[in-house]
Amino acid sequence: MVNPNNPFDQGEIEPIREMARSFWYSAILRAAIKLNVFSILDGAGLTAGELAERISANPEFVGAFLEACQVTGLLESSDGVYTNTGTTSRFLVAGKDRYVGDHALHHTNTWASWGMLDELILEGKTMLPFETGFVDQNTYWTNYMMGQHNRAMSGQADHLVENLNLEGVERLIDLGGGAASYSMALCEANPQLSAVVVDGPEPIAIARSFVAERGLEDRISLIAGDFFEEDLGSDYDVALISGVVLIKSEQECRQLFDLAHGLLKPGGMVVVQDFMRIGRTQEQAKADVLENLYVKVVFDPGASDRDGDEVASWLADAGFQDPRQIPIPAQLALITATKPD
Ligand SMILES: C[S@@+](CC[C@H](N)C(=O)[O-])C[C@H]1O[C@@H](n2cnc3c(N)ncnc32)[C@H](O)[C@@H]1O
Repeated sequence: MVNPNNPFDQGEIEPIREMARSFWYSAILRAAIKLNVFSILDGAGLTAGELAERISANPEFVGAFLEACQVTGLLESSDGVYTNTGTTSRFLVAGKDRYVGDHALHHTNTWASWGMLDELILEGKTMLPFETGFVDQNTYWTNYMMGQHNRAMSGQADHLVENLNLEGVERLIDLGGGAASYSMALCEANPQLSAVVVDGPEPIAIARSFVAERGLEDRISLIAGDFFEEDLGSDYDVALISGVVLIKSEQECRQLFDLAHGLLKPGGMVVVQDFMRIGRTQEQAKADVLENLYVKVVFDPGASDRDGDEVASWLADAGFQDPRQIPIPAQLALITATKPD
């Protein structure tokens, strides 16, 4: 509410100032992850001086940084000793099951692209993080794939497993399967299932180490290449398309659904898991709006966060029937549909 006696009402200006500097929060989070602060402080509080010594950093900067971590809610402090909060201990200590730090790095790798947002809007242009020089390609792919895996492991994979009845289903093809996160989860939950995961060489290298770590080499095979170019076999029971529709143009999504249709046996099921507007909560709906801009800025000019109805109509055009749109209390929603017998 503007105070008529004070034309420079601070309460009204402050949200603008707050928004202008909100990228500082992102920088603080990124630096804390890159400097391993949450892992170092887990279970062992340190003073600023001790941390500065531990990471060989400038003590004054570390002092200011830790205070900033505290006021932004990333750390707690008592008598000058800094410790993780419960949340940072659960989700930002590398190596813990529900770690999401790689996903945060992946998002902040897009920094320089967002910094050019005005130009990109005018030109309708996409800038991938390594095209701006902000990160190199290897860092980009590693953080991107590990970040997708973080999402899977912090709840999304459990929802997928819960919502798919794969009883008696034997063969799954995972198109653009990334780190193989969902194929691994589905195979672990369904002992009769085996999977083929296809993605580019960088994601497949990461998938290979996860699959070996979990001892699933006999049940998950990996194909490094373009899913439109490779020989992917045929007669699959299920085709999983996770996180791909969001980053592709309508034309490529339709082409991908045609591909899935051709790969499935009659009666087979396609599963689309993605940011899609299906029964969204207010918070999810806000994330969809931001994702819609994000994917244009850093993935593909034709990329879009879609309505479930639109995706379902493309599946119908590709020859699938009985589309089921399934809202999920996590980031990605689901659509399943079947190839007629
Ligand atoms: C957002 S990631 C999703 C990864 C994984 N499915 C998941 O949900 O965690 C999209 C993936 O699609 C892959 N992809 C995109 N176009 C592809 C193509 N033409 N051939 C193979 N993979 C592709 C990308 O390399 C990337 O790994």
